Amino acid sequence: MSTSNKITNREVAAKQKELLFPCVATYYEEPIAFERGEGCRLWDVEGNEYLDFFGGILTVSLGHGEPRVTQAVVDQVQRLVHVSTLYPIREQVAAAERLVQISPIKGKQKAFFTSSGSEADETALVLAKVYTKTTEVIALRHSYSGRTLVAMTNTAHSKYRALPAQVPGTVHAHAPYCYRCPYGATYPSCGVRCAEDIEELVLTCTTGRPAAFFAEPILGVGGFITPPPEYFKVAVGIVRNHGGLFICDEVQTGFGRTGGTWNGIEHYGVEPDLVTYAKGIANGFPMGATLAKAEIADAFTAGSIATFGGNPVSATAAATTMAVMADERIPERAERLGARLRGRLDQLKDKYPLVGDVRGMGLMQAIELVEDRTTKAPAPAKASAFSEACKRRSLLVGKGGLYGNTVRIAPPMLVDEAQIDHACDVMDQAMAEISA
Ligand SMILES: Cc1ncc(COP(=O)(O)O)c(C=O)c1O
Repeated sequence: MSTSNKITNREVAAKQKELLFPCVATYYEEPIAFERGEGCRLWDVEGNEYLDFFGGILTVSLGHGEPRVTQAVVDQVQRLVHVSTLYPIREQVAAAERLVQISPIKGKQKAFFTSSGSEADETALVLAKVYTKTTEVIALRHSYSGRTLVAMTNTAHSKYRALPAQVPGTVHAHAPYCYRCPYGATYPSCGVRCAEDIEELVLTCTTGRPAAFFAEPILGVGGFITPPPEYFKVAVGIVRNHGGLFICDEVQTGFGRTGGTWNGIEHYGVEPDLVTYAKGIANGFPMGATLAKAEIADAFTAGSIATFGGNPVSATAAATTMAVMADERIPERAERLGARLRGRLDQLKDKYPLVGDVRGMGLMQAIELVEDRTTKAPAPAKASAFSEACKRRSLLVGKGGLYGNTVRIAPPMLVDEAQIDHACDVMDQAMAEISA
């Protein structure tokens, strides 16, 4: 491969195809190879500029190259990069202190750092099983928990299961997917049956003593499926009655993303026993974290090493990212700008029959595309065409959902009003193009 500046997107993509596992899938018919980013903007190797409304899968939480985070990381890299968890370091405790301040767990809690969301979820599941001395887990259909064997078993999305479930004792409850209610019911007259059914699930498909209920407040990869307001009180209440803990996966929903609160679960008024974080925690640097009530965390007495977990560089990036988030009042900002974005997406639904549903919270919004509003037949080809049409207009959006027909929109949270308005104008044009 040429090392000159004249390298093309196509050249990088061809090399990737030759050298990487095919499971490393990329967006777009002609994949884009990025080389530079600033705020909500990205530039590819050919010098083309894009507006990024997916933020590296909700991970560049503040924006590309956020100067305060970059400076702190540069200083840290020059000072110390790695010592392993065999030594206490102040960067890791600083990150833990910040996390405890924003966590939805009240009271004393403890953290364990890793390098990814999969590891954070895996750690939470192991700890819940160690603490409760039982091993069954209730997860949700349409959920995504990661690529490791335990996390993959939790994941209920066939596309991301390279192997059949490898961990016995995991059962999957119906998702609170109101647009495609598994019972064909309508909220609120449904009585939140998807949550109530967990009682029967526990009694029929487990020993009656589950270790935990594991759920995302908004099912991210599932297509930003947004549960109704009562869902978590009912679901968690049932599992707790049977002695189980509640593990809340805030990997996508954390850090103010859902607007108004630091965590997605706070919209539902339920306190988790364990919480997992990753993605947006360090504005793009690799970091995962599992938080647990101290009494639960203290049960994890076996040795467990994550060599890179909470390393000085990622921990500095995380602590600085969270400090900047606090200074910038990110939850309030995501609420205000999210309302602006949502208003425009609702208008798209009024205008284009192709839009079956608009859902989400804060700066985490999705539109689900259907062939027909009555049959709700999923329209994955239209979602791909929409994404390509946005790309031609230099706007990057995400895709998702079990049927591949959901467009996910989640810009870095320091996005401004003008960028939101421009992105919405582009989405309107793209929708008109694919509706024609
Ligand atoms: C909700 C959720 N949990 C866990 C993960 C796994 O995170 P990672 O890819 O960092 O392992 C993801 C990744 O998309 C996720 O969306």
